[in-house]
Amino acid sequence: MGEASRNVWTRKDLIGIAGLSRQEIELVLDTAPQFVAVSQRSSGIKKVPLLQGRLVVNWFHEPSTRTRTSFELAAKRLSADTLAIAASSSSSVKGETLHDTLANIEAMSADIIVIRHSCAGAPHLLAAGHASHIINAGDGRHEHPTQALLDAFTMRENLRQRTGNNEATLDGLRVAIIGDVEHSRVARSNIHALNKLGAQVTLCGPATLVPRDFAAMGVRVTTSLKEALEDTDVVYSLRIQLERQAKALFPSLREYIKLFRIDADSLRYAPDHAIVMHPGPINRDLELSTDVADGPRSVILQQVTNGVAVRMAVMHLLANSGAGRTA
Ligand code: NCD
Repeated sequence: MGEASRNVWTRKDLIGIAGLSRQEIELVLDTAPQFVAVSQRSSGIKKVPLLQGRLVVNWFHEPSTRTRTSFELAAKRLSADTLAIAASSSSSVKGETLHDTLANIEAMSADIIVIRHSCAGAPHLLAAGHASHIINAGDGRHEHPTQALLDAFTMRENLRQRTGNNEATLDGLRVAIIGDVEHSRVARSNIHALNKLGAQVTLCGPATLVPRDFAAMGVRVTTSLKEALEDTDVVYSLRIQLERQAKALFPSLREYIKLFRIDADSLRYAPDHAIVMHPGPINRDLELSTDVADGPRSVILQQVTNGVAVRMAVMHLLANSGAGRTA
């Protein structure tokens, strides 16, 4: 392990990437490989006892398959007990505040709370008032930190494989994020992480979905897919979040497809080595064509596999960090 392994994690919670240092991000990335190895064990038990006897609560107020199961599996592979609370069946529908619900969960000795909420800031609010470790699994359009960490990890793994350099970092890596940036917490967390790691980010999509003010985050913004793709190492496709669009933000899906879809045609603009990523769930053949999603340049399922290991790393670092209730 490199430089980062000398740093110690001291945070109680993981709320966003914006507040993390490069060293903290690299510490997570450097901690994850040992957990990739645990999941890949061909014989024996795919588990380590690092969170034995601890309770991890998944508290999702928005739909999720991938992220929820990924956290649950990560907790189980660390030997934690797990509990899932679905918002629709919890007392919040009876008017209980988030604070009260969490105080009750904590009274049953929960150690880590994984929360997804449609309100930006909800995880931050809870983290400040409670002793348990809070992990933000997506809050409104704000942040989705573990997605950005697993994405950075996947980019780094692929870069290291391509270059044969096992110490390669994301410095100078060119990443094009395409599509519905405006509604995307994944894009925001990725921009923060990639900026801190020294990568160069280009955003591309219709101006309504990629407002110019994103340039203030230190990224390039363009409405030309050709320009975004022609020198990129990573093509990162985002889901068109139809459910978050209050009004029609582009004239027609057909027009979006023609100008911005990642498919065999548009991918011709990108260098041959460029990989294709997507956080899921995919609107097949809208933002990303099926042949590309399932094709040889796609690392989408690697992202899912790495997600478990990266979340194991995050939970291990938080719970064994010396900060918060499990200190
Ligand atoms: C994303 C999310 O929910 O923020 N999905 C995910 O967690 N992998 C992106 C999306 O919904 O488009």
